[in-house]
Order: sequence, then structure tokens, then C-alpha cells
Amino acid sequence: MDAHLLQWLNLGVRWLHVIAGIAWIGASFYFNWLNSAIAPPERAEPGIAGEVWSVHGGGFYRTVKYGVAPARLPTTLHWFIWEAYTTWLSGVTLLILVYYLQAKTFLVGPAGLSPAAAIAISISTLVGANVIYDALCRSPLAKNPGAFALVGLSLVAALAWGLTQVLSPRAAYIHVGAALGGIMAVNVSRVIIPSQRRMVRAMREGREPDPALGKQAALRSLHNNYFTLPVVFTMIGGHYPATYGHSLNWFILFGLAVIGAGTRHYFNRRNQGRNNVWILPAAAIGMVALALVSRPKALPAPSAADDASFAAVRVVIAQRCAPCHSSKPTNPGVPTAPQGLVLDTPEEIQAQASRFDAVAVSAQTMPLGNVTEMTDEERALLGRWIRAGAQLR
Ligand code: HEC
Repeated sequence: MDAHLLQWLNLGVRWLHVIAGIAWIGASFYFNWLNSAIAPPERAEPGIAGEVWSVHGGGFYRTVKYGVAPARLPTTLHWFIWEAYTTWLSGVTLLILVYYLQAKTFLVGPAGLSPAAAIAISISTLVGANVIYDALCRSPLAKNPGAFALVGLSLVAALAWGLTQVLSPRAAYIHVGAALGGIMAVNVSRVIIPSQRRMVRAMREGREPDPALGKQAALRSLHNNYFTLPVVFTMIGGHYPATYGHSLNWFILFGLAVIGAGTRHYFNRRNQGRNNVWILPAAAIGMVALALVSRPKALPAPSAADDASFAAVRVVIAQRCAPCHSSKPTNPGVPTAPQGLVLDTPEEIQAQASRFDAVAVSAQTMPLGNVTEMTDEERALLGRWIRAGAQLR
């Protein structure tokens, strides 16, 4: 496909994906909050489990929750379906546009798999995660939330480790997120919505709805709630080479998943009136610890032996980076300089030099997919030049 059109298509789908995701997660947060804020009504009513009073946008609202369901259904019942489906469909479309159609650049990592093998790993990850999660939910483990969380987090760590061994680091991050996001969407489409449909059908046919159906939906809905913050991190993590570009990238992802799920746990507990004062400070300390762990090794002080001349560095940049990072990129499929990073003139190269270490020396996320075949000697040369002060001599 024409690279320019592909970029616009990508932009449109990504925009939709983010908007639908906000609507989905927003509704999920709201209903989780509602469930925990609901208190027994001031005057007891038959069948009513609780109520919440709120004010928003100049209106006063009184929301009541039924123990199981009202005696008679109203004509209009609002469902929350399309937020999840639109997020999932646009996400899969993006995966195809970015990672399958441009597999050599974005999906294949240093392991050097064929694009077909990498795509096969991608698909089996997404399907396999769902199969394993579903089996866990049906096992006795699901009755023990603590053990379930422990097993779930260990599986996230294992997945992150495994994917960073075979795919490009950014693709590995996105795939952990896509696996969790896929589980969330399947929870909605295969468990939450169908059990709601069965409850509604029972009522329309004048039967008592089975409360167990509502319970199963509530369990999956709670799991989705814990997944949200880790998933949102993996979706934005690709903009932070300090995370995915680090040699311990899988552990950093795992650490941030624990911090995200822990933060959700704090709010869930607080909403139930049980305050765990230590969770948020622990999460903040965890963030600081990860920032320290991922600190790039300080480059040794320059020595007289530092021979890296700018003339040599300029040739490397021109050959390995400028095919993409130029005002007129020559690499097929790159219509304009990615992230506006142009490395044509000596001044441009010098001004951006501080960013090269994190992507091309300490880590090797650039050149993307190493399509321009940068060598280890060239990376070392670049490192020595930066260490010697990135001079134009
Ligand atoms: C095949 C094309 C290609 C080549 C060659 C390439 N890059 Fe990039 N680079 C990209 C793309 C695409 C992005 C944007 C990635 C994104 O959207 O996060 C990027 C982003 C960057 C960033 C910003 C990273 C961030 O997220 O802040 C830096 C810095 C960078 N490249 C440096 C380099 C250097 C140095 C070289 C040469 C050693 C190089 N690139 C070679 C395609 C390329």
C-alpha cells in the first residue's frame, strides 16, 4: 500500500482506537465505582440492594441497584457493548497495519525470525492467552483471588520474557498489552454480554433470572478492571525507549504491570471502605526503583584514546539513520522523517546526539529492525563520540 495513505489510515484507526478505549475503560471505571459506592437506601424498598446519589454537569442523579433484577423490565435498557468491540476491532486493525504489513520493520526483532514466523507467534500469543485465562477462570483457582493474582502476574512475567526473546522489544510490549486487552474483549463478548442476555431473556419469559449468571459476569468484569492500567501502560510504553529498549525490558514491563494492578487494588479497596494506606506509596517507590534499575550505564570518562572523529560519525549516520531520519527519506515506506527527527546537517546531528545513546548504543532499538544493517563497531564508534562530548571535529 502507498506509504502516505497507510500513514493516514493508521492515524484514523489509532484515533478511533484511543477514543473507543477511553469510552470503554471510562464506563468500566464508572460502574466499578458505582458498585462499591452503592449503599443501602435510606428507606428500604423491596428488591433494591442499594443506591447512590450524585451530582454531575448540573444535574442530580439517583442510581439504584437491584438485588438481582427489577420485577418488570423497562422498554429501553441501555447496554454497554460497542465500546469494547470497537476498541478490539480497531486494535486488531492497527496490529495488522503496523505489525503485520510492516513486519520486517516493526515485528521482527534481533532474533531475526522470518516475518511469517513472527506473525504466527503474534497470533498464537493472542489466542493462547485467552485459552489459558479461560481455563484458569473455570479452575478452582478462581475462587482464591490472591492465588489467582499471583498466578496471573507470573504468567504476565513469563509472556513478557518470552516475547522479548523472539520479537522486537516494542512489538513484545504491544503484544503483552494486546493479549490482556484481547482477554478483556473476549470477557465482554463471551461471558459478560451473554450472561446478561440470558438474564434478560429469562425475565422477558417471566422466569426468575439465575443470580449465578450475574456473579460470573461480575468476576470477569472485576478482572477486566485490574487489567486496565497495565494495558494502558503497554499501549503508551512504545514511546519510551528507556523501558522497552533496556536489557531488562521484560522485568520493567512486569514491574509496571504490578504497579498498575496494585493501584487499581488500592482504589477498589478504598471504594469498599477498606483503606490500605501503604499501597500508593509502595507503587510510587516501585516507580522510582524501576527508574533507577533502568538507568543506562554511565559512559566512561573520555580518554586520550577517543579517536571518534565527527567525519566518521557523519558517514555512519548518513548510511544507517538518514535513510529514514532525513528531510527526504529514501527508505521505502517512510514518507517523512519519523518523529520529525531529521539528521541531515552536522548541526542537526549534534543537537540530537544525546538521544542516540538510549536507542543505538546502550540499546539497539534503532535503526528500526536494523534494516540499514548498522554494525557493532559503528555503535561503539557512536558511543565514543558521544562520550567525548559530541564535538563537530
Ligand atoms: C527504517 C527506518 C529508521 C532508521 C534506519 C532509523 N530510524 Fe530512528 N525511528 C524510526 C521510526 C519509525 C521512529 C518512530 C518510532 C515511534 O513511533 O516510536 C524512530 C524514532 C527514533 C528516535 C526517537 C525515539 C523515541 O521514541 O523517543 C530516535 C532518537 C531515533 N529514531 C534515532 C535513530 C538513530 C540514531 C538511527 C541510526 C542509528 C535511526 N534512528 C535509524 C525509523 C528509523
